[in-house]
Amino acid sequence: MKFLTIIPTYNEVENIEPLVHALFGQIPQDAGILVVDDNSPDRTAETVENLIPRYPRRLHLLKRPGKKGLAQAYIAAFEWGITRGYELFLEMDADFSHNPAYIPGMLKAIQTHDAVIGSRNIKGGAVEGWSFCRTVLSKGGSLYARMILGCPVKDLTGGFNMWTKNALKQISLNRIVSKGYLFQVEMKYRAHIAGCSIKEIPILFSDRKYGISKMSKKIFLEALLNIWKIKKAAGKDTALDQSIKFFVTGGLGTITNLIIFFLCTDLAGLPEIPVSIACFFIAASQNYVINHSWSFRASKEKTVLSVTKWGAFLCVSLLGLGVNIAVLNFVFAYFSLPYKFIAQIFGITAGMGVNFAVSKMVVFRRE
Ligand code: GDD
Ligand code: MN
Repeated sequence: MKFLTIIPTYNEVENIEPLVHALFGQIPQDAGILVVDDNSPDRTAETVENLIPRYPRRLHLLKRPGKKGLAQAYIAAFEWGITRGYELFLEMDADFSHNPAYIPGMLKAIQTHDAVIGSRNIKGGAVEGWSFCRTVLSKGGSLYARMILGCPVKDLTGGFNMWTKNALKQISLNRIVSKGYLFQVEMKYRAHIAGCSIKEIPILFSDRKYGISKMSKKIFLEALLNIWKIKKAAGKDTALDQSIKFFVTGGLGTITNLIIFFLCTDLAGLPEIPVSIACFFIAASQNYVINHSWSFRASKEKTVLSVTKWGAFLCVSLLGLGVNIAVLNFVFAYFSLPYKFIAQIFGITAGMGVNFAVSKMVVFRRE
């Protein structure tokens, strides 16, 4: 397979030349290297240009007008490679934190997988030379991201990764929302939910000797907050989003219920009890349709209403109503309250909570 190593650079003038030489000693004869430079003021790009005559048709430079972050640099580089027929891609930093000696092992592992991750967080992997603080940030960040995303990859933030063209296709690069370092997390997450087979191999990551890291507190904080965006962009709503939508839907159902109740009893003079029961079923049916097509819907998913699920949702709504009444009576019986409606607040909250939980886990359950 035609193999391309991509190295993003921003002010890596001390590192790029020795790295290029070291890499050509490790990668196959027909493999290429693409340096993506974001117009580094330290003239990294000129250094690469001067090297190109020594590695004709193998060393390439993609110059970009300004510092737009790691994600855009990588996406442009992947697209550059795909249009030129490359089928296998390696991401690596320019600063020797990623040792080229691991490449042959990664090339071997990629034969049977869609992606190979150079991992610091599995047995045999490690970080060398980082301050205690940076280690805690990185490990904590990785764990936090894994928990929120429910992604089994142990080194989500690392930047030493190999991808097949097929994996990149499944990731849908044009839908990536991250700008900076979180890009690495988003790539792996998307590959995971697309069903790619991902292999982690242990690496020793050593801190750079020349130049400075572009990671900052601001970038780190941004990353923490944007994890949620990654999940949403991949079509996975968080439970928080779903519950807010669910309660809005419940509110709309209540309005429908009240309008019909008013029209049938106050205006048309029909008896309250049967009208009230009818109102409940109409409102619950409306809730079913809205929850189905909005609250619990993944962005790209097709939606098909189903009679069974409608029936199940009506049952769940009845269960919610039952819980509501039970809690109302309980609070009423055991607590002395200045107003009765306070007991009903507890009743409604409990009923809706049960309704939401059972709806999510049973009626609108997703694989
Ligand atoms: N083109 C371009 N544009 N390159 C960039 C940019 C940018 O905006 N920002 C950083 N780079 C390049 C750097 O020149 C370097 O080659 C690589 O991206 C990684 O940047 P570093 O500044 O060396 O990152 P680090 O060592 O702090 O971060 C390491 O840990 C991160 C989190 O675990 C790396 O392994 C990252 O890949 C990893 O995401
Ligand atoms: Mn680095």
